[in-house]
Amino acid sequence: MAKNKENNELMEKIVSLCKRRGFVYPSSEIYGGFSAIYDFGPYGVELENNIKKEWWKTMVQMRDDIVGLDSAIFMHPKIWEASGHVGGFSDPLAECKRCHSRARADQLLQEIGVNADEKMGLEELNKIFEKNKEKIKCPACGKSDFTEIRKFNLLVKSNLGNFTEDWSKEPVYLRGETCQGIYVNYQNVLDSTRVKIPFGIAQIGKAFRNEITARQFIFRTREFEQMEMQYFTKPDEEMKEYEKLREFRWKFYLGLGIKEKNLKWRKHENLVFYAKEAYDIEYNYPFGFAELEGVHARGDYDLTQHSKYSGKDLSYADPITNEKYMPHIIESSAGTARTFLAVLCDAYNEEKVNGETRVVLKIKKELAPIKIAVFPLLKNKPELVKKAKEIYDSLKSQYMCEFDDNGNIGKRYRRQDEIGTPYCITVDFDSLENPPAGGDITVRDRDSMKQERVKIEELENYFKDKLNC
Ligand code: GAP
Repeated sequence: MAKNKENNELMEKIVSLCKRRGFVYPSSEIYGGFSAIYDFGPYGVELENNIKKEWWKTMVQMRDDIVGLDSAIFMHPKIWEASGHVGGFSDPLAECKRCHSRARADQLLQEIGVNADEKMGLEELNKIFEKNKEKIKCPACGKSDFTEIRKFNLLVKSNLGNFTEDWSKEPVYLRGETCQGIYVNYQNVLDSTRVKIPFGIAQIGKAFRNEITARQFIFRTREFEQMEMQYFTKPDEEMKEYEKLREFRWKFYLGLGIKEKNLKWRKHENLVFYAKEAYDIEYNYPFGFAELEGVHARGDYDLTQHSKYSGKDLSYADPITNEKYMPHIIESSAGTARTFLAVLCDAYNEEKVNGETRVVLKIKKELAPIKIAVFPLLKNKPELVKKAKEIYDSLKSQYMCEFDDNGNIGKRYRRQDEIGTPYCITVDFDSLENPPAGGDITVRDRDSMKQERVKIEELENYFKDKLNC
């Protein structure tokens, strides 16, 4: 119980820091908000971009066998029939008869300690729900009076390009996952580049889902970003490649600086009929271990379905052996916001310094929104401000920097600690003097809080060494 309270407090602190320091804002706030959608602020967009940069570097730049793609959000509606989303992409919905608020039945069961997941059949779920109905409370009004569970489709409809009176009958969808854009471009990539099986296609982009309940801040939202890679293999090599991909993806999170003790694998027990094997990488968020990424062996389902629905044969002819087969796919599917939240939770630290609490994000340097902050010791000394601005200008073409002359130096350090800035430079009167006696500044390290004097002319090389980015 005490641990729960501590974890709730940690989550509240992170949500508050995100808002206060410009990482994440609730959407449309001046209009009263818009449920389950968030905007990324000035530091948030930097962190988000840095996460995506690391992902792209790992998945595309450093791999000879993976290429990138940026497919459109809108696609032919038939794609979503072929993928199974129109018929089967749904969550179990329970509606409170008293206040009409809606909740996911599997989550209501989990909250009372009953094991259930969204992939269970409706009949089974209804049986379990009925058996526990006295104990299940509506999160909004606290009553225990629910309708029968039904499936609620998560695809988001649009009227794009549809000029009929009742466009909802022929909807176009906002993509529910980015990987469908990869499957339908598989043949294009094969024909226009030099890739050969095994190879992968990676993409980062927005996805949309009409989530019934969206809770836990940016963990589950209705508009979110995915970082997905689909790897096309020979049928009999699928599981060998799958094991390699699992290991590769695990290392990615360690490379982001996430502590290994906060990660774990969860094997899917209720596999969809075509899947060979499915694991999630879970992170230990303040609300418990929850999915960060899925690494799944999908067999030949995706290309077989798109061959069938499009009428185009998507099978592969091996250029050397002439062997023909339908490629099998293994996928890595991660959420940018879930990675963002994991990075923040892992990096958040509170330390006692001289009797005061220092909040510091000990984020990996490559991910830090601001790499270097530059301060003049005194705001009202134009010569110090001028010199600090010169240093700031010389570094900003290389690194994301910030100039700050507001408040005392201690306060400026604290502000940078809170957003995870690895280095702060202070320009003082000695900085204005000529070397060797002067011409140096103080560099303060975020984690150790140690300070050292560095000659201004050596700063470029100093940071090249310290910031490998
Ligand atoms: N192509 C496979 C796929 O989309 P998924 O498990 O539904 O699989 C993959 O989603 C990843 O996308 C999840 O592990 C999670 O990181 C992210 N994700 C899914 N739904 C999300 C939501 N509503 N809000 C934020 N991230 C989400």
